[in-house]
Amino acid sequence: MKFLPLFCLTLLLSFQIGSAQLKKASTPANKKMDVFIDDLLSKMTLDEKIGQLNLLTGGEATTGSVVSKDVENKIRNGQVGGIFSLTTPARIRKAQHTAVTQSRLKIPIIFGQDVIHGYKTTFPIPLALSGTWDMALIQETARIAAVEATADGINWTFSPMVDISRDPRWGRMSEGSGEDTYLGSQIARAMVKGYQGDNLSKYNTLMACVKHFALYGAAEAGRDYNTTDMSLDRMYNEYLPPYKAALDAGAGSVMTSFNDINGVPATANNWLMTDLLRKQWGFDGLVVTDYTAVNELIDHGLGDLQTVSALSLNAGVDMDMVGEGFLTTLKKSVEQGKVKQGRIDDACRLVLEAKYKLGLFEDPFRYCNEERAKKEILKPEHLAVARKAATESFVLLKNADQTLPLTKKGTIALIGPLANSGVNMPGTWSVNSDLANTKSLLQGMQAAAGKEVKILHSLGSNLLADAQYQERATMFGREIPRDNRPEQEIIAEAVKLAEQADVVVAALGESSEMSGESSSRTDLEIPKVQRNLLEALLKTGKPVVLVLFTGRPLALTWEAEHVPAILNVWFGGTEAANAIADVLFGKVNPSGKLTATFPQNVGQVPLYYAHKNTGRPLADGAWFSKFRSNYLDVSNDPLYPFGYGLSYTTFSYSDLKLNTDSFKSGETITASITVKNTGLVEGKEVVQLYIRDLVGSSTRPVKELKGFQKINLKPGEVKTVNFTIKESDLKFYNTALEFLAEPGDFKVFIGGNSRDVMETGFSFY
Ligand code: BGC
Repeated sequence: MKFLPLFCLTLLLSFQIGSAQLKKASTPANKKMDVFIDDLLSKMTLDEKIGQLNLLTGGEATTGSVVSKDVENKIRNGQVGGIFSLTTPARIRKAQHTAVTQSRLKIPIIFGQDVIHGYKTTFPIPLALSGTWDMALIQETARIAAVEATADGINWTFSPMVDISRDPRWGRMSEGSGEDTYLGSQIARAMVKGYQGDNLSKYNTLMACVKHFALYGAAEAGRDYNTTDMSLDRMYNEYLPPYKAALDAGAGSVMTSFNDINGVPATANNWLMTDLLRKQWGFDGLVVTDYTAVNELIDHGLGDLQTVSALSLNAGVDMDMVGEGFLTTLKKSVEQGKVKQGRIDDACRLVLEAKYKLGLFEDPFRYCNEERAKKEILKPEHLAVARKAATESFVLLKNADQTLPLTKKGTIALIGPLANSGVNMPGTWSVNSDLANTKSLLQGMQAAAGKEVKILHSLGSNLLADAQYQERATMFGREIPRDNRPEQEIIAEAVKLAEQADVVVAALGESSEMSGESSSRTDLEIPKVQRNLLEALLKTGKPVVLVLFTGRPLALTWEAEHVPAILNVWFGGTEAANAIADVLFGKVNPSGKLTATFPQNVGQVPLYYAHKNTGRPLADGAWFSKFRSNYLDVSNDPLYPFGYGLSYTTFSYSDLKLNTDSFKSGETITASITVKNTGLVEGKEVVQLYIRDLVGSSTRPVKELKGFQKINLKPGEVKTVNFTIKESDLKFYNTALEFLAEPGDFKVFIGGNSRDVMETGFSFY
């Protein structure tokens, strides 16, 4: 079967959105809502309906250069449906009060915010959090975020970000769950459940917004906002499932992405928002654009503001974030017949429904409770979860000669530009974090070390040699002080301290704003000025532990060869400093596993474990072979594969078994393996199951994650881990976009990462 070209599908499936299409389940609650909203809509003028489609900032722009103006007057005039980036019960109450007392129809406002990895209690960045492989924990972090954000007046979060990404040049990889479709889908579900709970109208639940729809993580060359061009095979099998998983979990809204998709930007893409999202997936919630994404269609080359606003609404957008194109042009478009009034009614209905579901019509101030804000925000229980989540997210990349954990005796030289920076800890997209009160690593280690440890500290190097680059990399209050002395002088000072120490801890890597939005990089190595420092520290002959801060996979080939121990701590949030100290001193045994491949060098990217085989694969274990698919200058291997992460203990895998060697539709098969803790301390291990479909009607990846379990083992303890494999685990979208399991032979792999596995096989018929 040949691929159906995208435009054919578009023609086949394209239709105007009508009320019938947004049909909801006919429950008593929905009927009641419909009656209420029908009545309200019947009272609204066209201007008031368009006003509901307008989402403004509360005056504190977070990510764009446009800041909303004259917001209060617009509220009075019924020109505001929602506001975001306004916080605290007092300020939100004031805006809401204006809406419900001074606008003609007294429609309450919905209040959004980028609550991405926690609110005031900030958890590790999403890429780090995904490395815990702990769905209950991830769900709990979202729940806590919802409790804190709603206590501060917010009822809508622009999260989860579920964009699959396989290109670490893209800075926003830090905001997602890495490269894998299966894991990403599980996390998407857990986050939505955490935010929304089981009832959106509760005072402590937030409406989730799945973003960025769609394929934003596949930006060409890793350059943010860049074009994506993708086959339907890849789209349906690899990139779309996490968005769908979040919607299946009940996410109330979707945010369109900035990028062009196969020639039509997402924000104007009728196929994406109407055919796929509404018709194929049956989504009946709210679609909002990203920041000024409607206006950006002008630069994409789709026309003037009136044209692109009409295009975007007609394609399926309901709410316009910040750009006010809808507000200023839609009425004219209705008058000129370019937009149907029915489409505006539908969009307005969805905005009103979101407010209804959040209980805002019942009590517009239900999220404004100063007492709750005082009690709930930064509660000790929340901080304890943040500390746990951070310790579980760290990935031990190397630990030669058991350099780690450190003993609480002697002298430690803590060196590096990231060693004494609290503001750098929360990580990108932590707009609500209390930067001033976040401990630095130095403070965390001092608090944990006890009396028998002396900690010496020095800067050792600047973050980046180029002061202007450093400025770009430390925006939004995340400054890292610079030392303007010559580089050698700063290094010499650090080396002097290192010489007096028993062990050196080098806190190096990226500043938090070196990843995140509009923070793409073409060089994935540790900045040269920091590498120079590291070399000098290693020359002292002292054991060196690299505590690596990063928001993306880095190319650490040199470090992996020369530094005895590397602990990747990402950006761990509010409790990062305490958590790093917990792991460095062995109070907690690290168990994080990478959810994105670390390449040997930037030239290998995109590099991911679930790749296709090609017609000329390299033989297993080979480095190079002429006329095979490889490079002249570097092997195909990653530096650290997906799923990788060490522990202070070791685990052995044995006895991989299947309960039968074949199964058919409707049945299951069980794979089991024995895992033993062969070291001296208790530890957690993420046992991973991968499958390969050996022959397909279209080409299939060499491995696909289809299950995982995180287990805890005491020294010497043995556990048998069972996985049930179902027909649905074998399904994929074929070239006709049918989701099927094809009969044939399959391989099963189980191990502690995607590379080091045991294997067996079965057939499905
Ligand atoms: C980002 C979104 C974010 C929005 C609102 C945009 O620049 O792409 O992820 O939700 O701003 O702050």
